[in-house]
Amino acid sequence: MNICIIGTGYVGLVTGTVFAELGNDVICVDKLSEKIAMLENGKMPIYEPGLEELVVRNRNEGRLSFTTDIKNAVENSEIIFICVNTPPKDDGETDLSFVKAAAKEVAKHMNGDKIIVNKSTVPVGTGDLVHNIVSENNPNNYDYHVVSNPEFLREGSAIHDALNPDRIVIGASKRQVAFRLLELYASLEAPILITDVNSAEIIKYASNAFLATKISFINSIADICEKVGADVEQVAKGMGHDQRIGRSFLNAGLGYGGSCFPKDVKSLIHTSSGLGNEFSLLKNVVDTNERRASHFVDMIKARFPDMKGKVFAVLGLAFKPNTDDMREAKSIEIIEALEKEGATVKAFDPIAMEATKAILPDVTCCNSSYEACEGADAMLLITEWREFKFLNLEKIKEAMNIPVIFDGRNLYDPARKRRLGFEYYSMGRGEWPKS
Ligand code: UDX
Repeated sequence: MNICIIGTGYVGLVTGTVFAELGNDVICVDKLSEKIAMLENGKMPIYEPGLEELVVRNRNEGRLSFTTDIKNAVENSEIIFICVNTPPKDDGETDLSFVKAAAKEVAKHMNGDKIIVNKSTVPVGTGDLVHNIVSENNPNNYDYHVVSNPEFLREGSAIHDALNPDRIVIGASKRQVAFRLLELYASLEAPILITDVNSAEIIKYASNAFLATKISFINSIADICEKVGADVEQVAKGMGHDQRIGRSFLNAGLGYGGSCFPKDVKSLIHTSSGLGNEFSLLKNVVDTNERRASHFVDMIKARFPDMKGKVFAVLGLAFKPNTDDMREAKSIEIIEALEKEGATVKAFDPIAMEATKAILPDVTCCNSSYEACEGADAMLLITEWREFKFLNLEKIKEAMNIPVIFDGRNLYDPARKRRLGFEYYSMGRGEWPKS
């Protein structure tokens, strides 16, 4: 099938590449010419494991191309995916200006019947909005259908998620249009759900908001555990065995960040309140999440009441492992708070060092965990990269000024760390430090 993807961000680039891998002819469009030039040269604008190899292969085999020429891309495609950015406004509302602009461009260049698919995460009602924009800008009255096909892939495992989805959701007003789109996914083994457009749009927000709720829930349980000396990991395990609950997304720690959960939860709160229903549960989810970084800093303060001149080694800066994405990363808030107290921060992240330099200019960027820990008064584990689990802790201990670990993601086993001679503090697992 001939497909056009508008927007080469995370969702657009991965979706386009995976459709090409599945045998379709895909043209990816972006208005940023530097990005298109990079992609044409086989260079990725984002770090995503496995992506480069797949892009290069499909490009070389002629199924994947990149362009800034939206007219040509629309004219040559039967199905057009809108995968543009939907950033948040200050009040939580989703800014749909890129979606609207894309819809207008598509309408302008239509040369026959088209299926227009919203893959960007967009609030309920956007399908109708796109429909109206296309209708107003479609002078030749070509037939078209607007479909919602939300994407559930995660950064860091995007290719795997796109090829092995938990479900495929297609919201369409006509079943035959949904079936046409389904042909694209025919070779994937996944449950398929065909709904109306509004329901598909809500499924995406409801899913992300529910996962965020699980995270804030377990973090509130972690707070209780800290007060009574219980272990939140044991609690999550005990809860997770109940099939109705499940163990995933019950990892207590510094809370959620990234480009999706923070904005999607706030957008759903905004949508709900616009309909006259205050979503107080979700407001509490946001509040709980926003307290996680300061809770961690308070824990460090309890051990180091005077931070002036203290040196902290920060391991992990990206909002989660396997990405260089710093959007809403907890590291930013934590490091800024420590620097405000007069501390110095030395940091290491396996991938996100470049991205960090621009955001946190006062941080000393190190080439390894060991270099970051050299002379440090404490090590702060912020992002649970796998390689941090296998550090040579004898070497780390020798390098540090004082062997103290604050583990914001419960990566390490407390008993083992203490046996090795570390003072060790984590989230919701035992004692609060004393100065
Ligand atoms: C999320 C959704 O999972 C995905 O379906 C959607 O398409 C986009 O948003 P992503 O933001 O890439 O994906 O990362 P995810 O793995 O879901 O983690 C989000 C945040 O939650 C991270 O900051 C992570 O550290 C945090 N998290 C996750 C926890 O704090 N605890 C957990 O148990 C799980």
